[in-house]
Amino acid sequence: MSTPDYLLLTGRDTSVLLETQDDGAPLWRYWGAAIRRTAATAMTLPALQDERPPASFTLNQPVHFPVFPGFGNGWFNLPAITGHRQQQDFSQHFSTRRIDTDTEANSLTIELQDTVTQLAVTITLALCQRTDVLSVNTSLSNEGTTPFALQSLAAGCLLLPAEGNRLRYVGGRHNAEFAEHEVQLGRHQFSIENRRGITSHEFFPGAVIAEAGTTEHQGLAWGAQLAWSGNHFQTIEQLPDGSRQWHLGEWLAPGEIFLEPGATHTAPTLLATCSQQGFDGVASNFHQAIRETVSWPGNSMAPRQVHANTWEGIYFQHDMADLKALASAYAETGVERFVLDDGWFRNRPDDRSGLGDWTPDATKYPAGLKPLAEHVLELGMSFGLWVEPEMINPDSDLFRAHPDWPLQVQGRPLLTGRNQLVLDMGREVVRNYLFDVIHQLLSTLPVTYLKWDHNRHLTQAGDQFGKPAWHQQVLGTWQLMQRLRDAHPDVEIESCSGGGGRIDAGILKYTHRFWTSDCIDALSRIDIQRGFLQFMPPELMGSHIGTAPAHTTGRSQGLDFRAAVAVTGHLGIEFDVRSLSEQDKAALKSWLNFYKTYRVLLHGSRVWRGRIGTSFSWQLHAEGGEGLLFVYRLQPQTDIYEPLLRIPGLMAEHDYRVRWLNTDFARRTRKPETGFFQQLQGDGLTLPGDWLGQRGLALPPMKAERCAIFHLQRTA
Ligand code: DGJ
Repeated sequence: MSTPDYLLLTGRDTSVLLETQDDGAPLWRYWGAAIRRTAATAMTLPALQDERPPASFTLNQPVHFPVFPGFGNGWFNLPAITGHRQQQDFSQHFSTRRIDTDTEANSLTIELQDTVTQLAVTITLALCQRTDVLSVNTSLSNEGTTPFALQSLAAGCLLLPAEGNRLRYVGGRHNAEFAEHEVQLGRHQFSIENRRGITSHEFFPGAVIAEAGTTEHQGLAWGAQLAWSGNHFQTIEQLPDGSRQWHLGEWLAPGEIFLEPGATHTAPTLLATCSQQGFDGVASNFHQAIRETVSWPGNSMAPRQVHANTWEGIYFQHDMADLKALASAYAETGVERFVLDDGWFRNRPDDRSGLGDWTPDATKYPAGLKPLAEHVLELGMSFGLWVEPEMINPDSDLFRAHPDWPLQVQGRPLLTGRNQLVLDMGREVVRNYLFDVIHQLLSTLPVTYLKWDHNRHLTQAGDQFGKPAWHQQVLGTWQLMQRLRDAHPDVEIESCSGGGGRIDAGILKYTHRFWTSDCIDALSRIDIQRGFLQFMPPELMGSHIGTAPAHTTGRSQGLDFRAAVAVTGHLGIEFDVRSLSEQDKAALKSWLNFYKTYRVLLHGSRVWRGRIGTSFSWQLHAEGGEGLLFVYRLQPQTDIYEPLLRIPGLMAEHDYRVRWLNTDFARRTRKPETGFFQQLQGDGLTLPGDWLGQRGLALPPMKAERCAIFHLQRTA
């Protein structure tokens, strides 16, 4: 064995280290806090195999964890690839063909080959020096003369130390997305597989792994998320030395990828990051990286306009005169974008018909949508429209004309979900039809925003040849989105799938907002939004003020609480404001003004999230010495005095002026008349950063389902 070379990538605060080997892919050596060396050559390290003397019942040539482990050649753990050529070539072992380093991109491109199976793999690892996010891009090429049946392919295989034994993943169901689940990792394999055809409400394609003592704000944590809008898997497995491997990738259906000679299959991009600042450090790195990838009209994010979405206000009851009056009422409240939701197109009195026929319903809109759109524009708002392009109702003209367009498997009954089928987005004729109808809408109406929905899972995803088409479905949808964006670069798109069924960094290349959940109950939303913010920044988080009682849970919260929960994201209103009392109308207006005053801070800053027991949840958005702290009381008081809140992220040697902003609301609920709270309510109090960070801010007495908002400003 010759002396190995080391490949070191160092980001802002973290490093990745690989070790080359004579016969094999580079080995994983390290992923964690930065190794402060300018180059790997400046280090003297023992080769991995020298640290591993032979153990009983091991191979004479033990296989250690490479960046791309094969199968059947001494790697007994989960391989990065499985597949075969007509029952041959089932066992793969990759050696290094070439390694390129790009110092500007801080990346390594590793080309691997298996001369026996005639497969080649290219992996690019790029560690961003601004964000500490490691992007992994993997592709597999068939250099043989017969097709290769690919069964599974990891988008990336990551190394975690043994201490990384706490897994936090998020998921739930429609109306309850992003619930946090924590699992203790052990010797067993942990695995999540999503076969629903979309990113899914059930499992977000990512997770965070932390050490035992890691808190929300301190300690080592590693995060990963897959930029993919379809089926996915992630598997975590303990390795023979107690460390762990973490694989993420697209879950492939049987027979889905049949790689022809000369063909290349590209896995989704994997985003991974490590932080010494706990779960919120991971979140912050992801936020920064995601912010850099969104493609905004005009190349930069405009202040996120206040939305009004018609769905929960009117559902399918579209009446032109009423809608105009509703739009006027929204404009009067301070709304900046009016989004016309489901129900506007042909033959759509309810959710049983019409999908596919994307022209305005002549009964509801005798002169088309233009009069409404123009009315909205005259009121000074922009106009957005709901569409669900991939869907088709069997009761539609489109289905009657093209019954072969939905995904289906011959001989099986068509399975509907919400009375609808899914169009085969892999077919060019389908994409062309959808492009033409949406292009027509965008060209003839002043629409600058599309809410792009997707309201069912994929079942018999067979294409016109009966082949599995889940993978093509994602690529076809992305392609259509890109084509529409190219043709209409000023149009923003919201990714919705019954709320948060399609939230991922893949679709984000084409979209600008996520509809986080159909559940707008403010108490439920606190947890949903907390889970969302682990992976995505707040400006992409559609968060609306709903009505009370909430349509999805039946629970009621006061307007102030509903608003205080919604203002931290991309704010909207989703109820008929005409039903409000004059007092609540004024309150709603002032919340919209609050949002407009602070949205640049809320959407461009770092986010910290925390809980105090089960009674409080809080969220801090801060940047450049200024911050907004939202403290939500969830349960009634059980202790005599309120707890202290230790505020993270403050500079110990600086002072901060703390002001309690929403004091009208707080005064109405209880009167904290001591000098301290009176001063907080007035000009504010200047307090030392280390006092606030180490000892904590005393919270005012609060009833349940109330929020206190504090403004923090660093002084000198
Ligand atoms: C599901 C979405 O999440 C809702 O906001 C709404 O757009 C409905 N679909 C319309 O059918």
